[in-house]
Amino acid sequence: MQLTSLAAVALLAHNVYAQSMLRFACSQLVVERLDPLVNPGANPSPHLHQIVGGNSFNYSMPTDSYDPAALSTCTSCTFAEDFSNYWTAVLYFKARNGTFKRVNQIGNGGPQGSLVQNGGIDIYYIPPYDGQTKVTAFKPGFRMLAGNQMLRSGQNVERGICHRCFPKNAQPFGGAPCSGSDSSALPNGVCEGGIRTTITFPTCWDGVNVDSPDHKSHVAYPSGSFEMNSPCPSTHPVKLPQVMYEILWDTAPFNDKNIWPTDGSQPFVYSQGDGTGHGQHGDYVFGWKGDSLQQALDAKCNLDKCSKLTSQTPQQAMQCTNKQTAVEPVDGWLPQLPGNLPVTYQ
Ligand SMILES: *[C@@H]1O[C@H](CO)[C@@H](O)[C@H](O)[C@H]1NC(C)=O
Ligand SMILES: *[C@@H]1O[C@H](CO)[C@@H](O)[C@H](O)[C@H]1NC(C)=O
Repeated sequence: MQLTSLAAVALLAHNVYAQSMLRFACSQLVVERLDPLVNPGANPSPHLHQIVGGNSFNYSMPTDSYDPAALSTCTSCTFAEDFSNYWTAVLYFKARNGTFKRVNQIGNGGPQGSLVQNGGIDIYYIPPYDGQTKVTAFKPGFRMLAGNQMLRSGQNVERGICHRCFPKNAQPFGGAPCSGSDSSALPNGVCEGGIRTTITFPTCWDGVNVDSPDHKSHVAYPSGSFEMNSPCPSTHPVKLPQVMYEILWDTAPFNDKNIWPTDGSQPFVYSQGDGTGHGQHGDYVFGWKGDSLQQALDAKCNLDKCSKLTSQTPQQAMQCTNKQTAVEPVDGWLPQLPGNLPVTYQ
């Protein structure tokens, strides 16, 4: 890497993490084949997801009639007011003998030292860097999708979706998302410190629609890059907080190359049968209670404490789990991916 780009990365990392932003832990709610956004009503949906957030998550969550804050009795996320659901594909290890095992997820450290959660992800709501520009919280019923589960090449990957390979004993948190050697493909070699995925959602909204047929067209990325200060396009003028998911895959149990494929290819696959990593994607269904998110944004709350919100203890959040509605085995050595999906590489 060029020194100049290293310096730029350091600067970007500094900017990202020096500002006020919500960053908090969400424990695993359930791992199952449901997708109320892309396959509403389907039980099971085609591929497996790992889901965190409010326990009203289900196969059908209509925009106009489903209020997660009213229907949930608990949330697996830090803030007691946040009954949103956040979900992504699940990572599996495909062993040399052709069987699959789910890769566990662990909390990532960072400014909070460690974020304690059980098998979940870390969530960010990032306001513009200037600390001035007003952001508008999502409206009831809002949902969106980032990424495309069908992709098997890096050609049309949305920005802000990538993987980072951490060496042994790395402080995994470090580094601005999708900078340096981060790649939309899964890393090729052994990552002794695990693999991080970040999924960054669009930050510009059309101001009218809480959803759209492709779950994307009602939002847009700003004209600049990751930086939140870039202007929104005139079609999508309303500035949203930048939602980002950070998932740390605990790949350490699979570091033994003797159980990797014999052809030297990397052995991890996403649950939709993606052997490349380019099809990583994230789904978001807004579910904050009342105007609590807007209040937290206006108060410029930082990390996982906020005078406007109630922080649960990690133990409280970890107690919030769902039993599978789409019942099937997802753990242990499996003869095939859930849904019996083939693994494809192009
Ligand atoms: C999902 O919805 C069905 C049908 O309304 C209901 O029986 C089930 O309890 C719900 N699951 C959860 C986890 O709320
Ligand atoms: C397949 O390989 C894994 C990893 O070496 C091993 O734990 C598992 O028992 C094997 N399963 C079968 C059916 O051979």
